[in-house]
Amino acid sequence: MIELAPSILSADFAHLADQVSRAAEGGGTIIHVDVMDGHFVPNITLGPQLVKSLRKATKLPLDCHLMIENPDRYIPAFADSGADWISVHHEACPHLDRTLNLIKNHDCHAGVVINPATPVELLSEVLDIVDYVLVMSVNPGFGAQPFIPNSLHKLRKLRELREQRNLNYKIEVDGGVGLDTVARVVQAGAEILVAGNAVFSHGDPMTNAQTLLKVALEATLQKV
Ligand code: DX5
Ligand code: ZN
Repeated sequence: MIELAPSILSADFAHLADQVSRAAEGGGTIIHVDVMDGHFVPNITLGPQLVKSLRKATKLPLDCHLMIENPDRYIPAFADSGADWISVHHEACPHLDRTLNLIKNHDCHAGVVINPATPVELLSEVLDIVDYVLVMSVNPGFGAQPFIPNSLHKLRKLRELREQRNLNYKIEVDGGVGLDTVARVVQAGAEILVAGNAVFSHGDPMTNAQTLLKVALEATLQKV
């Protein structure tokens, strides 16, 4: 099953509730929330307070992608504010097993994220405890960057490993997913498609989400 996770990074924050509900009407089923601290990535976005407001504006699961240093310090606040899914970067977690368990202990789905230069192999010891793996297909920090094709083999590898080891994690992709790239990511194994620019940067988020999902679903039918 393919799911679309509209990323509010590219939404109009002054009309966030409307933008999120339009994207949901277009078929978005998970709201992707990009949290940046100006240290781990060169940009600053939002914190638990906005998650709390969003929680009141939508019933959809909130997928908080923490691009921050020392995520352990903030995981409880995001969980208490209404996050349903929380992902942390492999590159930001010296005690990754502990951090993932902290997320689970707060009753959230736990995800691990890898940057474009990080190999899938480094996740070997945590694949059995995560609920999802997020493959960055751009260097994190900004929306609307070009898709990095090297991510495709990582998606394939994660699908193979899941089958070989009989595991259940979901495979999510984030960055540069749009009409020109979505077929390739879906065919490589991505099941949760994060899209910011393609959904929110122009026109109507509802139509944009619908069109993107349609192309994604057509691509799964072509899959061998
Ligand atoms: C990038 C963020 C992404 C971003 C993707 O650091 O993690 O979630 O919103 O944006 P697009 O879809 O515009 O590449
Ligand atoms: Zn993200």
